[in-house]
Amino acid sequence: MSQSWSPSSWRQKPIRQVPEYPDPAALAAVETTLKSHPPLVFAGEARNLTAALAKVAEGKAFLLQGGDCAESFAEFHPDNIRDTFRVLLQMAVVLTYAAALPVVKVGRIAGQFAKPRSETTERQGDVELPSYRGDIVNGPAFELQSRTPDPGRLLQAYAQSAATLNLLRAFAQGGYADLHNVLRWTLGFIAGNAAGERYKALAGRISEALEFMEACGVTPASVPQLRTTDFYTSHEALLLGYEQALTRIDSTTGDWYDTSAHMLWIGERTRQLDGAHVEFCRGVRNPVGVKCGPTMEEDALLRLIAVLNPENKPGRLTLICRFGADKVSERLPRLVRAVKREGASVVWSSDPMHGNTIKSQSGFKTRPFDRILKEIKTFFEVHRAEGTHAGGVHFEMTGQNVTECLGGAQAISDEDLSSRYHTHCDPRLNASQALELAFLMAESLRAERIKDTKFAVSA
Ligand code: TRP
Ligand code: MN
Repeated sequence: MSQSWSPSSWRQKPIRQVPEYPDPAALAAVETTLKSHPPLVFAGEARNLTAALAKVAEGKAFLLQGGDCAESFAEFHPDNIRDTFRVLLQMAVVLTYAAALPVVKVGRIAGQFAKPRSETTERQGDVELPSYRGDIVNGPAFELQSRTPDPGRLLQAYAQSAATLNLLRAFAQGGYADLHNVLRWTLGFIAGNAAGERYKALAGRISEALEFMEACGVTPASVPQLRTTDFYTSHEALLLGYEQALTRIDSTTGDWYDTSAHMLWIGERTRQLDGAHVEFCRGVRNPVGVKCGPTMEEDALLRLIAVLNPENKPGRLTLICRFGADKVSERLPRLVRAVKREGASVVWSSDPMHGNTIKSQSGFKTRPFDRILKEIKTFFEVHRAEGTHAGGVHFEMTGQNVTECLGGAQAISDEDLSSRYHTHCDPRLNASQALELAFLMAESLRAERIKDTKFAVSA
């Protein structure tokens, strides 16, 4: 697409999922204020992530992306940030060890506030109010004042994102993520269960390996990679006024970057080729993701790829597949073949959450662990059969001990759901379910690696 692009060119395109602000002038004023706020991330960091994702596209690394469905103002707390970060580190360690591949760590965090909704309004009895669209737009409480979109929330979301990112940077670079702490990352409540025990055993082996290497002179002082990790942030680029306000020219390259996060993705409901969200994302140089659901056809995908990654730059584009456990074996192979035939470089990632949402008998929106696992396993199998790399996963998860998804080793039942069902939005894996999945995925990754090894003895 050779049409000119600017950070505001999306405003000329058809757009979905826009909140109705009662006072557009107040919104414009807030957006102007945000334009003078500091960037949250640097262009160079986004480029580093692109390079890391290029390795994933090549089959030489694995992408781990995860975090809340939606962050909230009410649950903003350092412990929550730490716990999410900690489970992601635990999962990353398990995957790095099993696959012997670098794991690219990307949080759905520090900006994941805006939510697409299927209905613009919600009715309770005789009352009809605007739908809740995430804390960056309005409040969850079913009252007129709370549900009325409030531009001031953009500033609060910015402030929370900045503080969250600041803590994450401190954790990632300041010593908390040191591999020597691998045993200390075990969260209290999962220490006793199956995934926790398995983790402890693995952490023990890693600690031993570190001691051995230390004796050989490989220390955190000589090899800083042992004590820090690169942790990136991402969210859905849904509220484009906010994204535009944080889009800046990088002085070293002259390119535009959306500095609200390292990576952005376009949701399943806003990926229209001629729509505003695709228009915005095509012009920023950050790595971008596109959610691909069961209605995505080959030609539509190829056209999206052509618009979003015309230079076929490896690492620029991640396809986040969310078909549902029953549909993935039918829908995914043709997309993989079409992309391969076209010679397009993409990261294939699996979101096993969004296609597997059901209503439990007791009425909770939930996701069965078995279906999540089945979708991931099928995703790996399809890539194995097609000779492509199952590049990564995208989870909705939390470090908290919630009961929102059914099953797993803790065997969370329908009756259990009510005990700690805290999500403002979609049901999330709790820390032990997330860790358990990491172990189960590690087996598939190891199988992929053994298949690829020249010296592998066939079983
Ligand atoms: N720097 C390496 C990496 O990020 C090793 C590492 C340090 C690491 N701390 C970690 C790996 C925590 C996983 C989790 O991969
Ligand atoms: Mn969700």
